[in-house]
Parts: sequence; C-alpha cells; structure tokens
Amino acid sequence: MTNLTPLKIAGIGYCVPETVVTNEDLTKLYETSDEWIYSRTGIKERRLVSGNENAIDLGEKAARNALEKAGIDAEDLDLIIAASAAPIEMYSMGCQIHNRLGIKKHIPAFDVSAACSGLIYGLSIAKGMIASGMYKNILIVATDNNSRLLDWTDRGTSILFGDGAGAMVVTPSDDGVDDIIAIDIQADGSQGGLIELHLDGETCPLVEPNEKREMKIRMNGRGVYSFVVKLLPGYVEELITKSGLTVKDIDYMVPHQANIRIIQAVQERIGIPDEKVITNLEHYGNTSAASIPIALVEGVEKGTMKLNSTALLCGFGAGMTWGAAIVRLRDGIC
Ligand code: UT7
Repeated sequence: MTNLTPLKIAGIGYCVPETVVTNEDLTKLYETSDEWIYSRTGIKERRLVSGNENAIDLGEKAARNALEKAGIDAEDLDLIIAASAAPIEMYSMGCQIHNRLGIKKHIPAFDVSAACSGLIYGLSIAKGMIASGMYKNILIVATDNNSRLLDWTDRGTSILFGDGAGAMVVTPSDDGVDDIIAIDIQADGSQGGLIELHLDGETCPLVEPNEKREMKIRMNGRGVYSFVVKLLPGYVEELITKSGLTVKDIDYMVPHQANIRIIQAVQERIGIPDEKVITNLEHYGNTSAASIPIALVEGVEKGTMKLNSTALLCGFGAGMTWGAAIVRLRDGIC
C-alpha cells in the first residue's frame, strides 16, 4: 500500500485595500440604494484598490502574512499556486508573487482559473502534491482586483464585488495528522454563460475580424443565484456525510462570501447554528477566491472563531465551479 503524506495547514494570511466604498457611495454612479443592496446581498461596503495599488500588492502582503505564521522562509517554498480570476496580467500571478517575494530559487509557479472556487481548487491540488511527496512547502495565494474588470455602469453586478487577497501555506504534517479531513472540487462547463469575462482581443488583419465583446465581467445574477441555491446545500451536506462526520463535529462554516441568502440556504440545509457561520461580506463584498481566507483570519482576529477547531469551507464561482473542504485549524496558524 502506498503511504500518502498527510498535509498540515501551517499558516493563513490576508490583505484588503484601505479604500472603502459604501452602498451610499454607489448611489453617485447609478440609481440604487443601501436598502436594495443590503436586503438582497448582505453587503454594506467593499474595499477597492485605488491608484496604482493592485492584486499583486495585496497577494504579496497576504503571502508574507501566511509565511510568517507558518514560520517558513519564502526561499524554502517548493511551489506557488495562485488563484486569480481578475489578475492584473495573464503571465502569471504565481510568477508575480514569486518575484515579489524575492525568491531566487527556480520553483514552479502557476495560476488556477476556477474563479471564486480557486482557493479550494488550489488546496485540492496542493493536497495531491504533498500526498505524493512531489512538493513540500506550498503557497496558495488567492488575489483579485475584481473592481478593475467590472462594468461600473452595471448596477446588477458591480454592487457585489470587492478586492482582496488571502493566502495559505501548506506543508507535510510532522505528527501524522492530516488537516484536510475531506475535500472535493467540481465543475459544470455547460453553465459557463452565467458569469463571463471575454478576452477576445484583436484578430490578425489578414483574416476575417471577430465579433467584438467588452472585456468586463458579465453576470446573470438571478441565474447564478438559482443554480447555486439548488446545488450547493445538498453538495455540502453530502461531503459531510461522506467524511464520516456529522454537523455537530464541525465547529465553524466559513463559506465563500458571495451573498448572505446563498450562505443561509447552505446553513439551513445542514442545520448549523448562526454562531458557527462566519460572515464578513457586509464589509468586503465578494472578494472571489480570497473571501474564505479573509473571513477565516478575520474571524479569529475578532474572536468569533477559535483555532484548534474544525471548519467547513465551501464556495462556488464562474465556470461554473464549486468545492468544499473540511479542515483542521491548528493553534497559531493565523
Ligand atoms: O461569484 C459570483 C457570485 N454571484 C452571485 O452570488 C450572484 C447571485 N445573485 C444575486 O445576488 C442577485 O441575483 C442580485 C443581487 C445580483 C440581483 O438581485 P435580483 O433580485 O436577482 O435582481 P434582478 O437582477 O432580477 O433585478 C430585479 C430588478 C430589476 O429591475 P426591473 O427590471 O424589475 O425593473 C433590476 O434592474 O432590480 C433592478 N436592479 C437594481 N435596482 C436597484 C438591479 N440592480 C439594482 C441595484 N439597485 N443595484
């Protein structure tokens, strides 16, 4: 029988921009109201990059926080996985973070394109890499400046998103305990039209021109809502059952912070009480793949969450992609 190496979550960090844009501020852009936005989404304000600040700056800070908590020097990393769906450039966020961390060693660095599910996708890939013994110290960094790819005249979509970064450092576990109790990732490409971001670019002048589409996030909000509310609660419930745990064994649910009504639908299905559900979308909106680590670390900082506990992470995103993990959170990781 093959011996699979167990994984340790060694450090988690985050970074959000300082600039706050409230629902009230958005009324200067289009006809909307705090009441409309808050009652449908649970969002009151979001943080946005300003000036030359961008997702690389946020990702670097989140990564440095996670490395510090893990007690690992950036030079000792063996792999960087970046989850970035609204990057500043395509080639690539993983390499940008490698550069920013000043790593001299040539290690692999690549991006996972799974939108808001990117952190859980990255964790799943890292689990396989560590289990097989292929890599040891892995940085997963989720960072997006969604605000730069939104259409700020589209009030149905631009109200939802914020910018931010989260990072996790995972290593082989030295005590034989695997911090990932269960993990699963899935996708349904047939639903890809629900959230789109085209990168059509220019056609060679020697061939027939292509149809021009704007490079902006387009979302069928109602379609996303119905798809996710039908799918996610049962999916999460099944993962808990398959893991051999019951909902009583789970100390906290840290969901992707997209919409309070979607979070409540999952919460109701699995029957987890309010005090165990960690939300912060009121202050940050949807920060894509970064939303889970931001909520988790902030929950610990604010005291709504304690470490030495078990947490259910779950999320969904463009693609459509989704995933969930049940993880052990050791003391001192954030
Ligand atoms: O990672 C991606 C995650 N995405 C999501 O989680 C999206 C999930 N979906 C949602 O959260 C909701 O669908 C929204 C909050 C985006 C929209 O809420 P809705 O209740 O589905 O509204 P709707 O798009 O069906 O629009 C209803 C009405 C429309 O007016 P009419 O046509 O009925 O006159 C919209 O024009 O609300 C109008 N509307 C707004 N009114 C005030 C749309 N956006 C706004 C706004 N303020 N910001």
